[in-house]
Amino acid sequence: MVEDTAAMFSTFRPPAPQPPSSPVPLLHLLWAVFFNPLYVWHRLHFEDPVVVERTILGTRLVVSDPALIKWILVDNAKNYVRDSLQQRLLHRMTGRGVFSAEGSDWQFQRKLLAPYFSAKALVAYLPGMTAAAEDAVNRFRASSDDRFDLGSEMSTLTVDALGRTVFSGGLSERPAGIADSVRQFADTNGPVEVGDLLGLPPWIPGVRRLWGWRATAQVRQRARGMLAKARASELSPKIDFLSALISARDPETGETLGDRAIEDNVSTLIGAGSDTVAVALTWAIFLLSQAPRAREAVEAEVDANLKNGAPTADTLGKLVWTRAVIEEAMRLYPPAPMIGRMICNEDTLGGNRFPAGTTILISPWVLHRHTQLWSDPDMFEPERFLPGRRELIPRYAYLPFGAGPRVCLGMGFAMQEAVVVLATLIKHLRFERADDHPIRLRQCITLQTVAPLRMRIRPRQEL
Ligand code: HEM
Repeated sequence: MVEDTAAMFSTFRPPAPQPPSSPVPLLHLLWAVFFNPLYVWHRLHFEDPVVVERTILGTRLVVSDPALIKWILVDNAKNYVRDSLQQRLLHRMTGRGVFSAEGSDWQFQRKLLAPYFSAKALVAYLPGMTAAAEDAVNRFRASSDDRFDLGSEMSTLTVDALGRTVFSGGLSERPAGIADSVRQFADTNGPVEVGDLLGLPPWIPGVRRLWGWRATAQVRQRARGMLAKARASELSPKIDFLSALISARDPETGETLGDRAIEDNVSTLIGAGSDTVAVALTWAIFLLSQAPRAREAVEAEVDANLKNGAPTADTLGKLVWTRAVIEEAMRLYPPAPMIGRMICNEDTLGGNRFPAGTTILISPWVLHRHTQLWSDPDMFEPERFLPGRRELIPRYAYLPFGAGPRVCLGMGFAMQEAVVVLATLIKHLRFERADDHPIRLRQCITLQTVAPLRMRIRPRQEL
């Protein structure tokens, strides 16, 4: 007798908005741009490799063809910069930091930060990541709360992990407080405002930014405080990235980075490095709570491999189910759901010429659910990422971290952290949904849920 797929594998259909069959009307489009860009997509985006759109927002190409994506992000990357709207939003959030810099300024900063994300650095970060996860386990065990806000708990955990790793001097304050302001900062600075579309001077704040001025000020204040502490501590640039930024000189101009650019990089790394991993972990835990077969596979794997305390680099290689669940969670719910580019000099794409200034949208949300690239794209099926099947996925069909010269600087860090944290949590705890409200998604800078995902957390040895 042939078992049905759902019984053989861990498949189920997790929540996601169903795209309409035809392009959305203009008013709906504008609403989505301002409030929830996840709703700009329609069926064709998930079926065609390239969709050309001409709206009042200009000409946009939505590209989901792996070969073209490689051309844009890798082979001809010099001809593509971040699109002007994204540049504006990123500049607002990360100032002159590595995320928004272009040209030689970007090259200088990226080279400076790269050693703190090297393979050697990652091994040194293992104890810090494990300690942050174990502290969270103890916190959950000690609490009588029966309805944890999973997203907010994961943000606190990932801020804590950053403080124990890249920020070797620590983040000097309660991680929960920092995580709160980072989330508010992203919520109020991330969305598109009317002034962004009209091209008003960037210093004119929109309503949401006025609302979030306090969180913005708090994030800046923290970055300033950390810089002052790093100056006072005189740590070696070899072990401390802030000290490296302080002592660095631009090879062309001989100039130092300046306090503002250093603070921008501190805020960039706290923002880019905490919320994204928190989103990946939140969805991975939620998906496991709904898929008993996958949960059992991960539990068996961590029970077998995490016998003696913290995982080593060797152990991590054996946690294939844990990694597969995280990769599948990021396929279905990419933490960074949009990658935008703009053509610098006219280029030919898919046989058609497009002028300089054309906007290119590569959306991991669309790409990862594209019907020409994935079988049963809306189903949770972590087995796709197990060794043997993982290698069959075309490189440019799966882009949670982007690709090419501007690929995520923290990719290795994020994957290591997600595996260590998920394995440590699952070793000790079981997560169950604490309510059954329908789950609605919201794209801000990262992919969030509209209402908090509430979880009951139980120690496994008590079950
Ligand atoms: C699951 C976690 C993460 C995801 C999904 C993610 C995703 C991304 C993506 C898609 C980009 C490329 C954007 C583009 O090409 O326009 C990016 C860039 C970047 N990410 Fe991440 N990221 C994650 C974690 C991290 C962490 C942990 C850090 C640092 C601690 C980090 C730091 C950065 C930086 C600095 C850039 C800009 C790189 C550049 O422009 O050269 N990210 N990230």
